[in-house]
Amino acid sequence: MARAIEISAFGGPDNLRLVERTVGEPGAGEIRIRHHACGLNFIDVYQRTGLYPNALPLVLGMEAAGVVEAVGPGVEHLKPGDRAAYASAPPGAYCDLRVMPARSVVRLPEAISFDEGAAMMLKGLTVQYLLRKTQPQGGLKAGDFVLFHAAAGGVGLIACQWARAMGLQLIGTAGSDDKCRLALEHGAAHAINYAREDFVARVKEITGGRGVRAVYDSVGKDTFERSLDCLAPFGLLASFGNASGKVPALDIGVLAAKGSLYVTRPTLFTHIATRESTQAMADDLFAVVTSGAVKIRIDQRYALADVAQAHRDLESRRTTGSSVLLPG
Ligand SMILES: NC(=O)c1ccc[n+]([C@@H]2O[C@H](COP(=O)([O-])OP(=O)(O)OC[C@H]3O[C@@H](n4cnc5c(N)ncnc54)[C@H](OP(=O)(O)O)[C@@H]3O)[C@@H](O)[C@H]2O)c1
Repeated sequence: MARAIEISAFGGPDNLRLVERTVGEPGAGEIRIRHHACGLNFIDVYQRTGLYPNALPLVLGMEAAGVVEAVGPGVEHLKPGDRAAYASAPPGAYCDLRVMPARSVVRLPEAISFDEGAAMMLKGLTVQYLLRKTQPQGGLKAGDFVLFHAAAGGVGLIACQWARAMGLQLIGTAGSDDKCRLALEHGAAHAINYAREDFVARVKEITGGRGVRAVYDSVGKDTFERSLDCLAPFGLLASFGNASGKVPALDIGVLAAKGSLYVTRPTLFTHIATRESTQAMADDLFAVVTSGAVKIRIDQRYALADVAQAHRDLESRRTTGSSVLLPG
């Protein structure tokens, strides 16, 4: 028997229920993996509330690390006993044991712990595709300014460090002075407390009136429009999340008026759609982590059964860095 966290209706954290279920043998292209740690991500909240709808009942969770127990026909890159980690659809990572498609699962280097693996795959692969592949026209080069919202969060602290390693001047925003300090300690060149400061005015001041070349905005409703005002002409806004709510419909003419801007709404799942792209992105992520350039900071650990508290903490902005759920 395996234990999993399931919802049978969309709603609040109280809908999360611990259930027991049997787990069978992997079919073609699948593996069975025993989790040592599961990642907590904001997308789990969107899926719990139904903002991102899925069929019910649903085991939540998109990220975990553990040991491969069995592989189905046609799986060649993994074998029983391998340490492995993943960020992937379909949901179902909040459990101690599951069968899942092998395509998005990669071997985890010995130097990276299970907790780190579970804390970094979804968030680290996201930073990989944002900073390396979601760039303004002409690319990003050392010295360029970029704005990254929620810079003290799970994705945010990885971005601060990776941007520093690329020589970028990352301006991070965060909701408290303590979170701003954390972002600076992790490589942000500047930090703005957007709970009490006008971040557009501060970005203009920091960049000598020019604006930034790219904004990475996962806050959504509360920041989207003002993020456009932070961009230099031809700048790129990557709107990649909605922690404060869904971004309102955009009048495309605004992009001309504000300086021939670009807007994209990317998701990790397009980038990791094939095994080859997933492996290439994971190799890049593992290289920056094993070199020490990016450290995976886990500030919250919860027993899997305490997942409701983990959701409450994440939604009420009480967390910093990454969080993991431990199946025990
Ligand atoms: N599109 C993709 O491919 C992709 C992939 C991964 C993650 N994401 C997005 O990236 C973001 C970060 O994910 P994460 O898991 O690392 O979470 P996180 O950043 O650790 O937590 C979310 C943070 O958002 C900020 N926030 C601003 N307004 C908020 C509000 N009204 N309610 C709650 N939080 C608010 C809070 O930081 P402050 O208190 O500092 O404001 C909060 O700590 C999420 O929006 C997620 O959906 C997108």
